[in-house]
Amino acid sequence: MSAVILVGAQWGDEGKGKIVDVLARDAHWVVRFQGGNNAGHTLVVNGQRRVLHLLPSGILHSNVKCAIGPGVVLDPEVLLQELKALAESGIHVPPERLRVSDAVPIILPWHREIDRLREARLGAGKIGTTGKGIGPCYEDATGRRAIVARDLTDKARLLTALQRIAPDVTLLLASLGVAEPDWETVADHYVALGQKLLPHLDDVGARIDEALTAGEKVLMEGAQGTLLDVRHGTYPFVTSSATVAGGACTGLGIGPTRIDRVVGVVKAYATRVGSGPFPTELNDDIGQRLRDVGHEYGSTTGRPRRCGWLDVFALKHAARLNGLSGMFLNKIDVMSGLERVAICTGYTIDGVPVRDFPSHSVDLERAVPVYEWHDGWQENISGCRNFDALPVTTRAYIRRIEALTGIGCDLISVGPDRDESIVLRATWPA
Ligand code: GDP
Ligand code: IMO
Ligand code: MG
Repeated sequence: MSAVILVGAQWGDEGKGKIVDVLARDAHWVVRFQGGNNAGHTLVVNGQRRVLHLLPSGILHSNVKCAIGPGVVLDPEVLLQELKALAESGIHVPPERLRVSDAVPIILPWHREIDRLREARLGAGKIGTTGKGIGPCYEDATGRRAIVARDLTDKARLLTALQRIAPDVTLLLASLGVAEPDWETVADHYVALGQKLLPHLDDVGARIDEALTAGEKVLMEGAQGTLLDVRHGTYPFVTSSATVAGGACTGLGIGPTRIDRVVGVVKAYATRVGSGPFPTELNDDIGQRLRDVGHEYGSTTGRPRRCGWLDVFALKHAARLNGLSGMFLNKIDVMSGLERVAICTGYTIDGVPVRDFPSHSVDLERAVPVYEWHDGWQENISGCRNFDALPVTTRAYIRRIEALTGIGCDLISVGPDRDESIVLRATWPA
């Protein structure tokens, strides 16, 4: 059996979509275990760019099965739209190729509304969510008020489930100045969507367990990033799910002893979209240059991403939280043309070196990065296909990141396309 968990090691948008697409070549299954359509994973194949929000990034490989675990929150309309868009481009996904947990919590219209209204109320202190209703849906799941996929398969069942939660929903909506939903209309609409989902519904944990027992390779695709984890991220400027590797087990329904490897996707510099502390942020020409050259605009919301130097102190925190055994270093091509490049190796607070990553935003806001400087490189490296072809200073930068984190690179990515990669070692266990 081979189970590999792949997570974002920073604040999301590390290039997970590309890496999953590369690893999917050798996978039998690619599965999502948390998050929802707040994710935006970009895949570039033969120059054609696609962004997936909910479907696992293995979906373009016709021999790979995909699954969405019960740890995800699912907007059925988004899922059906993505399937439709794929079908229009000639990729038909039969139900047996996409299994969806029948226990997955469903994002309902008021989740999106609550998300947006709460953000508006927070004003300048807003989280900067994607507005997709992710947080409110997870709140309902944890609060034992979720409507789950299997509730959508029968109108009487759905109405009973809606009646149970109606008093809570109505109370909350009223506090935000929103009228009570028409439950009958809601039920009709979601039962119709449920009929379309029905052929996909399954016990995803059981299917993955069977696949592993049969010796198949399963890639677990994280969304967002470690520093957005609801418990270990830069709280409260986080998403509402467990983005760390541990979340894969609970988000799918398999045990930790089934996992072989955990790999982290790392962008060669740092970005963040939305509010919250970002110690190595560059509000200058270099930050703007990284944004322009790296096309750092959100795949889900189109917002400009904040850019900064690579934060290895935060990366070591991510390595510990996830138990990383390998790294994928992406977008190093974007750093070409800089005279000098910096790596943050630690923080001080009030002049005192910090021992552990201060993840709470109140503490992190006070952190001052400690940098070490390296020579940059001027060459366009997107054509490089082996490590020795990289400029000596690029190699030194990569080796320094490996030395500081104690984690080796499986792959260096030098461009968005599947093939713009330097493979250093196998990710799948032999
Ligand atoms: P994800 O959410 O982690 O999947 O990342 P996104 O897709 O939101 O953002 C990553 C962006 O970088 C996408 O536009 C990718 O096509 C692009 N990308 C990924 N790897 C590389 C790379 O090595 N070099 C360059 N220039 N772009 C890359
Ligand atoms: P991928 O999978 C980057 C951020 C939002 C916001 C915070 C909470 O593409 O890497 P939410 O809508 O989840 O309640 O927003 O999390 N965020 C992401 N940032 N990449 C993502 O996904 C993100 N998904 C959510 O910007 O700061
Ligand atoms: Mg993204």
